[in-house]
Amino acid sequence: MVKTNLGWDGSSGDPAAIEPSEWFQAQANINQSDIRTSFNQSWPECWTEAADLLDWNTVYETILDDSNPPFYRWFPDGELNACYNCIDRHVDADNVAIEWIGNLGKTRSYTYSELYDEVNALAAALSNLGVSEDDVVTIYLPVVPELPIAMLACARIGAPHSVVFAGFSADALATRLDAASSEYLITCDGFYRRGDAINQKRRVDDALLQVDHSVDETIVVDRLGDEYPHALHDNEHDYERLIDSFTGTEVNPVSRSAEDMLFLMYTSGTTGKPKGVRHSTGGYLAQTAWTTQAVLDLDSSDTIWTAADIGWITGHSYTVYGPLALGATTVLYEGAPDTPDREHIESVIDEYDINVFYTSATAIRSMMKRHPPDTDYDLSSIRLLGTVGEPIGSDAWHWYRQTFGDGETPVVDTWWQTETGSIMISTLPGVDTMKPGAAGPPLPGNDIQVVDPDGNPVDTGQAGYLTVNRPWPSMARTVHGGDDRFIEEYWQRFSDPDTDTWAYFTGDGAQYDDEGYIRLLGRVDDVINVSSRRLRTVEIESQILDIEGVTETAVVGGRDEAGRTVVFAYVTTEQDRKIDKEHIREQVKQGIQDAVGELAHPGQVIITPDLPKTRSGKIMRRLLEDISNDNEYGDTSALRNPEIVGEIESALSEK
Ligand code: PRX
Repeated sequence: MVKTNLGWDGSSGDPAAIEPSEWFQAQANINQSDIRTSFNQSWPECWTEAADLLDWNTVYETILDDSNPPFYRWFPDGELNACYNCIDRHVDADNVAIEWIGNLGKTRSYTYSELYDEVNALAAALSNLGVSEDDVVTIYLPVVPELPIAMLACARIGAPHSVVFAGFSADALATRLDAASSEYLITCDGFYRRGDAINQKRRVDDALLQVDHSVDETIVVDRLGDEYPHALHDNEHDYERLIDSFTGTEVNPVSRSAEDMLFLMYTSGTTGKPKGVRHSTGGYLAQTAWTTQAVLDLDSSDTIWTAADIGWITGHSYTVYGPLALGATTVLYEGAPDTPDREHIESVIDEYDINVFYTSATAIRSMMKRHPPDTDYDLSSIRLLGTVGEPIGSDAWHWYRQTFGDGETPVVDTWWQTETGSIMISTLPGVDTMKPGAAGPPLPGNDIQVVDPDGNPVDTGQAGYLTVNRPWPSMARTVHGGDDRFIEEYWQRFSDPDTDTWAYFTGDGAQYDDEGYIRLLGRVDDVINVSSRRLRTVEIESQILDIEGVTETAVVGGRDEAGRTVVFAYVTTEQDRKIDKEHIREQVKQGIQDAVGELAHPGQVIITPDLPKTRSGKIMRRLLEDISNDNEYGDTSALRNPEIVGEIESALSEK
């Protein structure tokens, strides 16, 4: 958890509200102040506003089929092709579609017609290799142009893609290939991370030894060049050679039912077995395009930089599908925005005239921690800033707006999930007042509630469980191979089929304020069993964050010498202050005792320079738990900062 100005009970004061400026409102894509009312009055027809952003081969007659909840179907009798919508219809305008900024100073740019050519060539090659409609193609690539090209080529021929984050291990790749029975793989020889060459092909070879079924064909992008030669086996094909041999071939975009699967996305997997979330073609693309236009305020003439790995949902929706569906320019950035040198961010914004910059709260905080703002660059192209992934405290919110938006631009704090497909809670930047520390009201069309354990709405200011009480077009359709699991994980808890009441459980804790703004309080499934009590980590963490000088914390259950489970609190502190560690440690212990009341053993406090995080910015509590309990822990290659593990271990052994 990260410092916000909000207490767990919401009692620590209302953050100052900030109105959108007049110039922004005047030009915003959405500036009707009654849009929420009008969407509510015409629900579900209101969602045709999203569907109308797309070109349909067969226009739908039904908007929502809710005859078999929770398996909702949107625009079910409509047909369309996602690749056509993201490329073909923009070719005439011939904007730049993709600007790629690679590691080691490499750059490439594609106009829509260049993108059209390469996607068609790859689609032809895939068909030639035997990929048919509905075959799942796994893509295991870092952020290189070939990644969105492969996604779009799959979409063109109606083959769902499953992108596996390139930092994942061979085991993780093998599990995902098996779970999706995927027989086709698009990968690369390797890539650079922090200047080092990573051998991706070796991971692929290891994974292919482990899979239960046969992977028939593999396409390999040569990212490392001649310096690192690699051998190809019989059913492995060099990407560039394939493209060369199919250049000029055009492939008809397959007409897909709106409900056909566009892609599978496995959730980050910080806990439990990964879930393959299934997204549809019509509803997903419609609402993703609509939120890109309404929340990120994107126009076809704009350049957006969504600084997130395309291997996560944020990259799928707001680097690839949303911006391209609107015909805009999207920036792809290989590597994390906060490394290797942060000035890079300002220089990219300046050089590419970025209009919309969208990144994770974690990235914002780590930029804030590391460097003072660099004022040598011209950032005046920025019109809107966005944040996602974790609560952003008001300090970081203001720092972000001041540093990148000259204290003027709107900031949207967007709440959503892999399962929701697109943004669900946010201010509309041309309409709503901003409140740093609170994400915002539900977007138009959404019915979002905060409920008690019995599913009854709690009072404003009270914490509860966040649920979505009405279906929405970009919702996950199911979990791959597990309708039962889909129901169990997301629907069972707060739905009652007897009364035909259906509520989707997000897994998050939240609270409403008096003005209908939602503050997110973290995952409610982060619990520790101490003295046979289930303690919600979020409650202990908010207590610790109240301590001056503490910036981030994660608490997990660990064993003490007597074998009892106690609280292990991992804490990072402000870097530029002189910190009295002993003082902080005592205060944290006190904070834990305050939070857990009668608990006799306050456990351990470990002060560390950083917390282990996934690439998408999630704190890896499971890893901290393993370290705390001296358990074997597995592969740490999915971490954004693997080097921190050793530091934490040595901090622990000093205790
Ligand atoms: O806990 C919420 C947090 O991220 C979770 C979803 O993670 P994932 O599926 O990996 O998708 C991340 C990017 C959409 C949520 O259940 N989360 C996401 N956005 C916010 C957030 N927490 C607070 N504020 C947000 N803006």
